[in-house]
Amino acid sequence: MLEKLKSEFEKKFGQHDDVRSYFAPGRVNLIGEHTDYNGGHVFPCALTLGTYGVARKREDNKLRFYSLNFEKLGVMESDLNDLKPCKEANWTNYPKGVMWAYEERGYKLPSGLDILIYGNIPNGSGLSSSASLEVLTGVILKDMFGFDVSMVDIALIGQYSENNFNGCNCGIMDQFASAMGKKDNAIFLDTNTLEYEYAPVVLEDAKIVIINSKVKHSLVDSAYNDRRNECETALKELQTVVDIKTLGDLTEEEFEAHKDAIKSEIRQKRAKHAVYENQRAIKAVEALKENDVETFGKLMNASHVSLRDDYEVSCEEIDILVDLAWAIDGVVGSRITGGGFGGCTVSIVKNDAVDHFVESIGAKYKEKVGHEAEFYVVDIGDGAGVLN
Ligand code: GLA
Repeated sequence: MLEKLKSEFEKKFGQHDDVRSYFAPGRVNLIGEHTDYNGGHVFPCALTLGTYGVARKREDNKLRFYSLNFEKLGVMESDLNDLKPCKEANWTNYPKGVMWAYEERGYKLPSGLDILIYGNIPNGSGLSSSASLEVLTGVILKDMFGFDVSMVDIALIGQYSENNFNGCNCGIMDQFASAMGKKDNAIFLDTNTLEYEYAPVVLEDAKIVIINSKVKHSLVDSAYNDRRNECETALKELQTVVDIKTLGDLTEEEFEAHKDAIKSEIRQKRAKHAVYENQRAIKAVEALKENDVETFGKLMNASHVSLRDDYEVSCEEIDILVDLAWAIDGVVGSRITGGGFGGCTVSIVKNDAVDHFVESIGAKYKEKVGHEAEFYVVDIGDGAGVLN
């Protein structure tokens, strides 16, 4: 793979003797959805799918980008003096955003770069292809220019660029998982403090299976930002009656006792999801530590119901996939994963049920929806880093 990328680099940018290569993974979140901007807990893991980059410093301030995923766009050029988002820059708005975010933090980029990219995360699938590109850029800049930043800083820089350069007000989960992932472990992250702990995900008789619905409904970013605003307003209303900093500070009982302070039914449902989902994430990790995968699965199912009914970020195609999964013997748990409105589901499936799961859901989904879903039986990989 790397040799191929280097030879592509040479074709586009000339000889490749002094290039360096990098990788940043995508992620799947096991539980704790839409909690990361509500001061709650998340439990994602890095995938072995992700984004590869080959890069070299330049003598001038030019930036040249080429993606093997967008060959038709050709080599996209820019300049360090022009780090502003624009439509024509297309996917390069992600690496440019990270460069801009470094400079905002006071790290002046001493020269331009040639960067070739290849990603094997299906685009728009909700497995964080954009966060992986941001984290990849963060690692390239740290390595190329010797910037003194930690992997957590790289995650924060990625999130900052996504929020302020690319206009999606996302939380920290995706970039954190891509930067800090660890093979065979999920990351139990308190998004309020950024304290985290690795939890081994060793499923002796089961696999993690992702299904890509291959739908992405429009207005995802604006619906996402709406949810965020609704939760912020609900928090302010709750703060008139209870001393909390985030929705993640409340237990279910405390929420029930104070929820009438929230003056709209919709905001009450949104806040309920944020509070209960955070508690589910905490309970799920406890269950996993005790090897109680059954409880973990039940909490995943409850997470889906809450995302579907209270947070309203699911959609017909995803609900079909989850309902089909729930009906299969040997499915421990199944839910939507990621931001929502399409994208993927994540399921824990007993080893001896995996083949049937793929065949049966594959056929029924196609019949109901009219196009095929994609299945990935995944391994949990390491976080981003330098490859050579
Ligand atoms: C997207 C965002 C994350 C997180 C999830 C929902 O993936 O980028 O920060 O909010 O949605 O859990």
